[in-house]
Amino acid sequence: MDVQSLAVVGAGQMGSGIAQVAAQAGLRVVLVDVSEENARKAHAKIGQLLSRQVEKGRITAEEREAILGRITPAGTLDAARGLDMAVEAVTENEELKKDIFRKLDELIRPEGILASNTSSISITRMAAATRRPERFIGMHFMNPVPVMKLVEIIRGAQTSDETYAQTKALAEKMGKVTVLSRDFPGFIVNRILIPMLNEACYALQEGIASVEDIDQAMKLGTNQPMGPLELADFIGLDTVLYIAQVLHEGLGDPKYRPNPLLKQYVDAGWLGRKSGRGFYTYEK
Ligand code: CAA
Repeated sequence: MDVQSLAVVGAGQMGSGIAQVAAQAGLRVVLVDVSEENARKAHAKIGQLLSRQVEKGRITAEEREAILGRITPAGTLDAARGLDMAVEAVTENEELKKDIFRKLDELIRPEGILASNTSSISITRMAAATRRPERFIGMHFMNPVPVMKLVEIIRGAQTSDETYAQTKALAEKMGKVTVLSRDFPGFIVNRILIPMLNEACYALQEGIASVEDIDQAMKLGTNQPMGPLELADFIGLDTVLYIAQVLHEGLGDPKYRPNPLLKQYVDAGWLGRKSGRGFYTYEK
């Protein structure tokens, strides 16, 4: 099956990015959120990003219109009925995701694929909540989706070879490069990235260096586009903490213990860019 139509569930930063790259690749996309208004706002934001591409001469105004025309905002999952595939990108809440997948299982074509953009929840467990665990897979995009080349593909215990091949082909059609991960906490990227961000918090807490110097050291010393504390703010400190907890609990090794300063910032509501304050302050 060549995937031609896609439901993207969750019109936040990740979901709208996925909808954008899918529509740019020529797919017919239904972008679903809890209300049609949310989905429409995401659609308008994609329109703004595409306008910049037009200004830069990368796409024509007609292409922009065609891409936007391929995305239908919706306020109910029923809009996914009969589509070839669904990618879920809602908040990291396992029960919520399972509930969405049970519904999608009834709506997506019987031979279609269910995928989750989860960064940390077990694909095998979510697959088991559906009647098609062999056609269930992890498709983990990176933020910002239109810019980042990588998609991690995660095979659950029951994912079939055919589902993997179709998902890989779809990611490549979206212009992405894929890597394959087994279904263990953090997959590849977060298994390695989150301990680095957590360690940067320890370095700060222990007074080894200032926020600015920790970031400058890693930016200029290891050629990363953002320093670890800046990147933690960018991802969201609540998300970083959540994934650190998943690694700690899921792998059972004390080396993954979440940093107390990180916990305190989250308790204070300092969640990074999205709340206006994290390790840095931001204009709202
Ligand atoms: N959406 C779409 N495009 C965006 C964007 C966004 N949110 N943010 C930036 N861009 C685009 C800009 O339009 C610009 O495009 P052009 O070059 O085509 O003009 C390009 O990205 C570069 O942007 P800027 O010049 O404004 O800024 P920059 O050079 O500092 O790059 C960045 C910004 C791409 C975000 C860069 O800092 C970067 O790569 N940071 C690291 C990002 C990263 O590591 N992401 C992974 C996080 S981990 C994750 O996602 C997994 C998880 O589960 C937690």
